[in-house]
Amino acid sequence: MDLSFRVLFLVTCCWTAFSLVSSETGALPLPSDVYLQFPNDFCVNLTWSPPEKLNSSTCSVQYHITVTAGQAGEPVPRTQESTHYQDCPDMENGVTYAVRTQPKSCGNRTDSKEVFKPIPHRTEKLVKEFKCFYYMPGAMNCTWRPTDGTRDLQLYYWDEQMEMKALGSCGLYFYSGEDKTGCHLHGKLPDFTKIYILLNGTRGPSTLKNTFLLVPRDNLKPPPPNLSVSEERHMLRLHCTPPDVFGDCWKCTYRYRSSRSSDWQEKYSSLDTPVHIPYNRHSRYEVQVMAVSKDICGIGASDWSKVTSFGEEQPADWSSHMALIAIPVVVIACVILFLLFFKKVRVLILPQIPDPMQLIKELINSKEEESNLAENKTVLQGKGSEKQVLCIPEEPEVCVNVRVEEPEPAADL
Ligand SMILES: *[C@@H]1O[C@H](CO)[C@@H](O)[C@H](O)[C@H]1NC(C)=O
Ligand SMILES: *[C@@H]1O[C@H](CO)[C@@H](O)[C@H](O)[C@H]1NC(C)=O
Ligand SMILES: *[C@@H]1O[C@H](CO)[C@@H](O)[C@H](O)[C@H]1NC(C)=O
Ligand SMILES: *[C@@H]1O[C@H](CO)[C@@H](O)[C@H](O)[C@H]1NC(C)=O
Ligand SMILES: *[C@@H]1O[C@H](CO)[C@@H](O)[C@H](O)[C@H]1NC(C)=O
Ligand SMILES: *[C@@H]1O[C@H](CO)[C@@H](O)[C@H](O)[C@H]1NC(C)=O
Repeated sequence: MDLSFRVLFLVTCCWTAFSLVSSETGALPLPSDVYLQFPNDFCVNLTWSPPEKLNSSTCSVQYHITVTAGQAGEPVPRTQESTHYQDCPDMENGVTYAVRTQPKSCGNRTDSKEVFKPIPHRTEKLVKEFKCFYYMPGAMNCTWRPTDGTRDLQLYYWDEQMEMKALGSCGLYFYSGEDKTGCHLHGKLPDFTKIYILLNGTRGPSTLKNTFLLVPRDNLKPPPPNLSVSEERHMLRLHCTPPDVFGDCWKCTYRYRSSRSSDWQEKYSSLDTPVHIPYNRHSRYEVQVMAVSKDICGIGASDWSKVTSFGEEQPADWSSHMALIAIPVVVIACVILFLLFFKKVRVLILPQIPDPMQLIKELINSKEEESNLAENKTVLQGKGSEKQVLCIPEEPEVCVNVRVEEPEPAADL
């Protein structure tokens, strides 16, 4: 037997065997009777039946479901054998379910097409700016602003630990005038799992509802911490007493500004130790603190605490005027004192320094005297007198008459 014959034989055998097992081929039929049921305001039950015209003893199937949240969400696929799928999604933004039959052990059959069941998103809103603050275990406040024309608002809540049909209702509403603007929820609230909130009411002729879902621990808002401010080693020491709710869950963030700057500076302490900031005693300081949740405890922060002031502002222009006056006064006084002192001491340490101006004056004076003297001499000589004038240049006024005895001429002898 040659090789090509053997291969042909094998293929034929396989083909025959396969044809005997799988009488039907191609894509499986669609699941039948696909419905959406709403056991409450927050959950949906997608139900269906196995495809008709499928012999379950020769072909077993499973179901492939994809859930696409919102308009552009990523589809989340899952596979199961049971014929219903329960989900409590964010219906407010719409969800689309798709289900198809998948072969589990069904010879050469392929997936069926998908059956789509969309839940449209809700376009009409009774309120805006819906927010909740989980401020201590078992207590949460939610607030909102009603949109125009909203009447008869009611708030209900539910979580997955509760019976499907059970609903909690708001025990205490907050009002602004006639309008409901918030609700205080208390009791057994979920912590790290979702809480579902329903607001329903009327607007004009229509009855509307909106739902919100949130994880309380991701909406923490404790009361602000207590703050103490003191001076320590020329610095300001800031210390916070964290809120005493939810245990050791808080870090403190400080912000401060001095009376000389309007900008807040932030300082953050990761440990439960005080922080130190530079301190100028001539300024007044304003300090605030905020508690921020540690990551393992959830998400959220308190409001800023009330402002704590420290120190007193000393008027800036008064001290600068003082400096402007005081510095020159002190400098002048020092110069005068120094000069007085120096004059006394100079005589002792330094010899008399000849005044160069005086020297020049003297030089000029002596020159003048000489010329005067010369004139006088000629006058005297012209008279042929025996008298001569001796003038002292220092005191030109003082002239002394001196009689000079002339010796007898030798020729007479
Ligand atoms: C399944 O059957 C189709 C025809 O019915 C055939 O074309 C295909 O090759 C088969 N697939 C397998 C994996 O046997
Ligand atoms: C969802 O529907 C299925 C089939 O009708 C039912 O067996 C199941 O109990 C329903 N689940 C809920 C939560 O209603
Ligand atoms: C399903 O297939 C088995 C085996 O091929 C056969 O005995 C049975 O009659 C079939 N049942 C139906 C409802 O077609
Ligand atoms: C929440 O509401 C209660 C009841 O009015 C109030 O005492 C509390 O201070 C509020 N807490 C916050 C964080 O808003
Ligand atoms: C709001 O929802 C509750 C609970 O589902 C229901 O009892 C009530 O009638 C609803 N109110 C309106 C105005 O739809
Ligand atoms: C903060 O101070 C107030 C008033 O002094 C006090 O009642 C409260 O218990 C303090 N909080 C903490 C967390 O120490």
